[in-house]
Amino acid sequence: MERIPNRLLRATDTHALERMAEAAFANAELIRTTEWAQPDLWFLERQGDAIRGCVGVVWREIVADGVWVRVGGIASLVVVPDARGSGLGKRLLDRALDEIRAMPSVAAGMLLCELNLVPFYQRLGWTRVGGAIRCMQRGTEIDWSGAVMLHAITPSALDHARVLRLNGLPW
Ligand SMILES: CC(C)(COP(=O)(O)OP(=O)(O)OC[C@H]1O[C@@H](n2cnc3c(N)ncnc32)[C@H](O)[C@@H]1OP(=O)(O)O)[C@@H](O)C(=O)NCCC(=O)NCCS
Repeated sequence: MERIPNRLLRATDTHALERMAEAAFANAELIRTTEWAQPDLWFLERQGDAIRGCVGVVWREIVADGVWVRVGGIASLVVVPDARGSGLGKRLLDRALDEIRAMPSVAAGMLLCELNLVPFYQRLGWTRVGGAIRCMQRGTEIDWSGAVMLHAITPSALDHARVLRLNGLPW
């Protein structure tokens, strides 16, 4: 699996990732219409030149009930349709989480998804956040209407927070 900072992505890979996301989320209204943050880092699984799966990592300081907390965001997890169901999604997620665990002072992995993906992430050890989530969208802070999933790394204010402010675009 390739580890590549976003700023070093080749233009052909950027286009391939955009096309993968467009196809994967064509019927996912919330995902399609949301303005997303760019990942800082990517993990790509290739077969020859073709990307078979990808996941991004976003570094962010968020605020949980007024307390600053560092999280590693998981973004743009996509496996191409003919490679699904063989464990690649789990491997990508595990690799991104390993990267996040290695970050100093990080409290948790965090990701945003549609409600129908909650069972997928729960199966892989993630828990759903109960509190309200605020994030920026087109210059205004809004309430996120999808689900937010957490993978705790160290005990933190995230664990029972009532309001989480993502301090920027969602990922
Ligand atoms: C979600 C996605 C990444 C899963 O990739 P994948 O390679 O098929 O997943 P895996 O084969 O690693 O599956 C891991 C486990 O989750 C289960 N699983 C897979 N998709 C699931 C789903 N939609 N709902 C519930 N469980 C699911 C698998 O059965 C497997 O369980 P097991 O280990 O008990 O057998 C892939 O379906 C995809 O790209 N979907 C479109 C994009 C998307 O929705 N991405 C998530 C954005 S938040």
